[in-house]
Amino acid sequence: MFFRSCLLLKMSLFAAQSVAALLPAVNQLAARTAALAACAELTTLLGPSIVKSSGAEYEHAATNAWNLENSEYSPTCIVFPNTTTHVQVAMTAIYHAESDFAVQAGSHSAMKGWNTVQDGVLIIFSSMQNVAYDVAQDTIILEPGVHWHDAYASLEPHGVAPLGGRAGDIGMGLLLGGGLSWLSPSHGYAADMLKSVDVVLANGSLVTATAGNEHSDLFRALKGGGNRFGIATRYELYPVHTGTQENKTYFGGTILFDSNAEALLNATAKYVREVNDPNAGEFILMSFINAVAGNNISPLYFLWAFYKGSELPTEIFGDFLAIPSVFSQLGQLSYFELQETLGLANERGQIQHFGASALVGDETLYLNAFNLWNNFTTAHKEFFNMTTLAFTPIPESQIQAGLARGGNIIHAPHGQFAAVQIYEAFNSGITEIPLSVQTAIGQLIEGSVILFLDPQTSLTIDVFRIPPSPGLPLYLNECDPDQHVFESYGDYEMLKDIYAKYDPIRFNVRHCQGPVGL
Ligand SMILES: Cc1cc2nc3c(=O)[nH]c(=O)nc-3n(C[C@H](O)[C@H](O)[C@H](O)COP(=O)(O)OP(=O)(O)OC[C@H]3O[C@@H](n4cnc5c(N)ncnc54)[C@H](O)[C@@H]3O)c2cc1C
Ligand SMILES: *[C@@H]1O[C@H](CO)[C@@H](O)[C@H](O)[C@H]1NC(C)=O
Ligand SMILES: *[C@@H]1O[C@H](CO)[C@@H](O)[C@H](O)[C@H]1NC(C)=O
Ligand SMILES: *[C@@H]1O[C@H](CO)[C@@H](O)[C@H](O)[C@H]1NC(C)=O
Ligand SMILES: *[C@@H]1O[C@H](CO)[C@@H](O)[C@H](O)[C@H]1NC(C)=O
Ligand SMILES: *[C@@H]1O[C@H](CO)[C@@H](O)[C@H](O)[C@H]1NC(C)=O
Ligand SMILES: *[C@@H]1O[C@H](CO)[C@@H](O)[C@H](O)[C@H]1NC(C)=O
Repeated sequence: MFFRSCLLLKMSLFAAQSVAALLPAVNQLAARTAALAACAELTTLLGPSIVKSSGAEYEHAATNAWNLENSEYSPTCIVFPNTTTHVQVAMTAIYHAESDFAVQAGSHSAMKGWNTVQDGVLIIFSSMQNVAYDVAQDTIILEPGVHWHDAYASLEPHGVAPLGGRAGDIGMGLLLGGGLSWLSPSHGYAADMLKSVDVVLANGSLVTATAGNEHSDLFRALKGGGNRFGIATRYELYPVHTGTQENKTYFGGTILFDSNAEALLNATAKYVREVNDPNAGEFILMSFINAVAGNNISPLYFLWAFYKGSELPTEIFGDFLAIPSVFSQLGQLSYFELQETLGLANERGQIQHFGASALVGDETLYLNAFNLWNNFTTAHKEFFNMTTLAFTPIPESQIQAGLARGGNIIHAPHGQFAAVQIYEAFNSGITEIPLSVQTAIGQLIEGSVILFLDPQTSLTIDVFRIPPSPGLPLYLNECDPDQHVFESYGDYEMLKDIYAKYDPIRFNVRHCQGPVGL
């Protein structure tokens, strides 16, 4: 009897294991079937000029993502909406077919799978790129497929600019992750300048969210919630009156260093702690780059520094200016010219990977981060084209500006800190991130403690990492897809409640890749 039940148990375990082994294949078949149904329905409803499953336009769009990993997928079909109604039709069909889906705007997120989909419907906004300035309302209207460079170029003649990306090819997805603009220290995250957003919810319903209407909760969640809260089809933004190209209001530019990392880190740490004058209009980006060519690693440490005025005042920038540089290009600039300093950054063809940290504290914290990143680069140099460790100061004035406009879901604590981006571009020819590098990235950013069991003695704890300082929010647009960014937000509990209200069947979380934690 005992033997028999054991055998039965064994047999049922075996059966369960075989089913488990088959599950991925079964799931994939179900996903493919659902996507085919959604695509067939959408082709009927919207026509073959809006919905494509093959052909040159499909091929180009499917392989155009900035991160090479995201151009290796084959969506079942791609929808190129021209109107908000097209998006509603698409989302309704996706919802009813229970199909997987993804949304792509500027295509610049590095997160694998967030802006494309295998066996699902991909919505690409390349046919919705209108930019307008409403003089009477003094608001900027941007369609979801606009790239920031085009927005700046068409708005410059009006003397206005939105808060947006510092590199021109970046798209509107930046707004949904928060958005760090050159103007952020004085005006908040880019999303803090939103006046209204039109959103197609998971079930296809259209709502307009503002700070003052019945969807004010959704409005707040969109300012940092990424792709989780629906599909944005129209952004209305408050402008900054920066002037035209004739108004050379700013002084600044690029300074390049090839050494003196410690002095630069000290200057960065001090700037992050101390500089906080929204009216002075000062801002920097300190970017440590290791350019890798074969066995050679060349340090290229870039400081971009700007000030509203006719010089870089020594009280603010003196520590940086005292460090010997190898190149510097500083001058009197209009905001539009300033905005072009970083260029478009639109090259394609390499795997790109981001990781986020956030630091507050003394010099040693910055030096530690730098050493870890430097060692990480050296250890895996055969795979890298370049690695970057970049610091964007988030001053108290930025947090205050956001609160004054109703607040965002990131809800950073009072005080100053640095958003830290750890970024690697891989060599061409590498089509997936090697496991060894992926593991090292995890150790670097996630703060995981690795235990090595040493047979001679007992065990050693090897802690090599750039853990975020406690209590600070991670920046969604610069994170690794495994990082728990939402959990780092000041309003995480509220974010979960709002999500449950606007997507009660959790359709987005189950059918679309994006930030974890909901
Ligand atoms: C070279 C470079 C420079 C950068 N510089 C900056 C910078 O200065 N400041 C900064 O803040 N960030 C910067 N970033 C990060 C940037 O903010 C993110 O990569 C951003 O998510 C890109 O938006 P996108 O529209 O180009 O990308 P996409 O990959 O198209 O979209 C990003 C995410 O948003 C979702 N999404 C896009 N549009 C919609 C929509 N309408 N509705 C719902 N979901 C949508 C997508 O599904 C995806 O998950 C930079 C990135 C790069 C590569
Ligand atoms: C949609 O927009 C594209 C590009 O703007 C245009 O070529 C096309 O004719 C439009 N299609 C429809 C159905 O409106
Ligand atoms: C731009 O310059 C014009 C002409 O000098 C001036 O009237 C205007 O106020 C300036 N605008 C800004 C934003 O500086
Ligand atoms: C950086 O700051 C630390 C801590 O204040 C100090 O000990 C060190 O000498 C500084 N290094 C440089 C190069 O300025
Ligand atoms: C980096 O590598 C050097 C040389 O191997 C080592 O001395 C140093 O301790 C490492 N630093 C960190 C922070 O891991
Ligand atoms: C690395 O980057 C440099 C400069 O951007 C580029 O010229 C080169 O082709 C890249 N190499 C590889 C192997 O990707
Ligand atoms: C869609 O979802 C929203 C949020 O849950 C809900 O208010 C709305 O009634 C739903 N629309 C339809 C057509 O079911």
